[in-house]
Amino acid sequence: MRPMRRRDLDAVAAIERSIYPFPWTRGNFADSLLAGHDAWIFEIEIEESPQLIGYAVVMWLPDEVHLLNLSVAAPMQGRGYGREMLQWLMRDASGRGARGMLLEVRPSNSPALALYRSTGFEPIGVRRGYYPAEGGREDAQVLFRQLER
Ligand SMILES: CC(C)(COP(=O)(O)OP(=O)(O)OC[C@H]1O[C@@H](n2cnc3c(N)ncnc32)[C@H](O)[C@@H]1OP(=O)(O)O)[C@@H](O)C(=O)NCCC(=O)NCCS
Repeated sequence: MRPMRRRDLDAVAAIERSIYPFPWTRGNFADSLLAGHDAWIFEIEIEESPQLIGYAVVMWLPDEVHLLNLSVAAPMQGRGYGREMLQWLMRDASGRGARGMLLEVRPSNSPALALYRSTGFEPIGVRRGYYPAEGGREDAQVLFRQLER
């Protein structure tokens, strides 16, 4: 994992467009950097050149973190990278004093829900009509997990 930089934004936005029906824009990522959120790139070396596998954006609240985006490039999904990134993000946040991690997920996003539930996240509420969706809006399931010190 390494911090996301402005020079990563084109590649990040291209992955984002390819994996979400309602993607964040390049400007949304740029705004996150400007706002001072933690933004991370996960890359691995393939034949000695770094390949962008995934990325994440985390907003700090006083003593919790809010996971705003966690994404793995389509060809790399289902290989354990998403779980590895999530565990790294939880360790990093707890190591810097966060007591918990909060996130929203679409109830229809079964892979993401399965990842979060199997990582110890519990449902704590619903945000009505939080996401754009085909023909209307979709609720968000709000999940929370305490982080060990
Ligand atoms: C959700 C996402 C981050 C998971 O990352 P990933 O690298 O594909 O997932 P992993 O290989 O680490 O798998 C972790 C767990 O996710 C679940 N999972 C992953 N792919 C799945 C699939 N196709 N169907 C059902 N569950 C799946 C499983 O619980 C899996 O654990 P297991 O392998 O022990 O069964 C990734 O698929 C992604 O970027 N999806 C598109 C964007 C997105 O939905 N982001 C989350 C928004 S809240």
